[in-house]
Amino acid sequence: MKRSLGVCYYPEHWPEEQWREDAARMVATGLNWVRIGEFAWSRLEPAPGRLEFDWLDRAIDVLGDAGLKVVLGTPTATPPRWMLDRHPDMMALDAQGCKRGFGSRRHYCFSHRGYLEECRRITALLAERYGKNPHVAAWQTDNEYGCHDTILSYSDAARAAFRDWLAQKYQSAQALNRAWGNVFWSMEYASFDQIDLPNLTVTEPNPAHVMDFRRFSSNQVMAFNRAQVEILRRHSTAPIAHNYMGRTLEFDHFAVGADLDIASWDSYPLGFLSDRLEASAEHKTRFLRQGDPDFQAFHHDLYRAVGRGRWWVMEQQPGPVNWAPYNPAPLPGMVRLWTWEAFAHGAEAVCYFRWRQAPFAQEQMHAGLLRPDSTPAPGLAEAEAVAGELAEAPEAGCASGDAALVFDYASAWAWETQPQGADFDYFRLCFAWYRALRRLGLNIDIVSPDTTDLSRWKLVLAPGLWNLPESLRAALATCPGNVILGPRANAKTADFAIPVPLPPGLPGLDTRVARVESLPPGTAVPLKGGGVFRHWAEEVEGTAPVLRARADGLPALVGADGVQYLAGWPAPDTLRDILRDTCAALGIETLDLPEGLRLRDAGPWRFWFNHDAQALDWGGMHLPPAGVMRVARQSP
Ligand code: GAL
Repeated sequence: MKRSLGVCYYPEHWPEEQWREDAARMVATGLNWVRIGEFAWSRLEPAPGRLEFDWLDRAIDVLGDAGLKVVLGTPTATPPRWMLDRHPDMMALDAQGCKRGFGSRRHYCFSHRGYLEECRRITALLAERYGKNPHVAAWQTDNEYGCHDTILSYSDAARAAFRDWLAQKYQSAQALNRAWGNVFWSMEYASFDQIDLPNLTVTEPNPAHVMDFRRFSSNQVMAFNRAQVEILRRHSTAPIAHNYMGRTLEFDHFAVGADLDIASWDSYPLGFLSDRLEASAEHKTRFLRQGDPDFQAFHHDLYRAVGRGRWWVMEQQPGPVNWAPYNPAPLPGMVRLWTWEAFAHGAEAVCYFRWRQAPFAQEQMHAGLLRPDSTPAPGLAEAEAVAGELAEAPEAGCASGDAALVFDYASAWAWETQPQGADFDYFRLCFAWYRALRRLGLNIDIVSPDTTDLSRWKLVLAPGLWNLPESLRAALATCPGNVILGPRANAKTADFAIPVPLPPGLPGLDTRVARVESLPPGTAVPLKGGGVFRHWAEEVEGTAPVLRARADGLPALVGADGVQYLAGWPAPDTLRDILRDTCAALGIETLDLPEGLRLRDAGPWRFWFNHDAQALDWGGMHLPPAGVMRVARQSP
């Protein structure tokens, strides 16, 4: 598979006379893909049943004839206004019970059957009409499931579907009462019709109730997506993708991804730095125009796993965005760096969002590759530069990781449901481990908790995994590498109770978590020989050998036979030291990379990326600000 570039385009936003010139300029820039259609429902069907697809036929022809391959999106993220008259109750309700209104996008509830049927209908119309069109070379379902906080809905439709889901799962109210522990506070139910959604309770709802609602809500996304995929596959053999977002954890992307051919995500490094990352003011200032050095890479590795090896960036930030609290312009060179970093992590394609900046509506302040007056914006030249460079490194793919990091969406729901400390956040925990590994110069593979074969990796890390499914337990037990679990590993049963015998209950490791504590910012539990736990610390007992101890003498890291348990949340430097020692013991070579320098191995190449705004001299290399360097790997 060759690496390629593309762009997101909205033919319905521009006069038809402009399409041909736009297409020719895209091709001249070196772009191969154009994604269209994903918000065009009101132009495809201006009134119920009044279909106007001719313009889309022509747009696809113009783009395709120019030599572009089309990614066609289903328009289901933007139901037109008339849809609400047909289905007045199709909107999601927020946790306060307020209906979310019309006038932007993603205004639907995943559980509404009438809307699901409308989505099937419009998807079938598109699939029948374009399924065999030679220019339509890929599909995108909907747009960014979960963006704008749109997974959890407290609507009547969601309540009814949740009751059905519970009835299927538990078969009887008594079984549900037992599983949830409803004897507590007299919460027992006599029938499934009595069960509400877990919002608007006086104080916190039962965590088992919340956890089931989270599983159910995730499942609704999978079913919604699957409905479209089944139809598309009936009419087309082109691969199907969805464009996921950054740090969106409300549904299990692995489950949705299993139905798709390609995972893709929308990468907005500067928006994310400003909006979605816990980091010091100093860090945010240092990387203001470059984005965090690890945030994009984390998602590249995550979505490579979600796509089972096939993944794209469907939307790449090309200049300032409009939606973060502050929207700086990228440092010159960063659009190129972001693109190459995606390729180094195995992306098949990177598409820029968007072709031309729209002078109207919500995103008028969002840059495109062209300015609103059609002259080039700075991102265009960088896209063009990458297109030129691709000739020298055309093959997509990346090297197998030195370490595997297990990432589990259900653990994010579990610790959101019961954080026990205000800043215990699963993504934050995993991201800290990821960053520590990257600073040691490692290539990382992220793996799903359903992985059954971990034999490829010398080092397997699973921080914060709330519950160990049997399959993963077996994979961990047979994995020849070194496994580090904890904190909070296997701390709950699947029914959200504390297991007895006490966690983590790992085979061959006699250790039990006897007590846990969460720690407010500014406080720490010191370790013997230096280093600290922050946020979270556990008191463990048992006979497992102690590899590191706390200053108070309690074990901090225990382990034997290739399995270790970490009884706390180490501060970044402490974590780096622990992982470096582990790597040394395993014969994995590590580096000590400066804060803004990162690497990724891909095929015969090692890519170096300078995320800093200053030039960097390190290890005999000189990298300019936003520099990308490709060198032959010593041992491919
Ligand atoms: C994405 C979305 C695009 C556009 C973009 C702006 O989240 O998929 O449609 O809104 O953000 O940055």
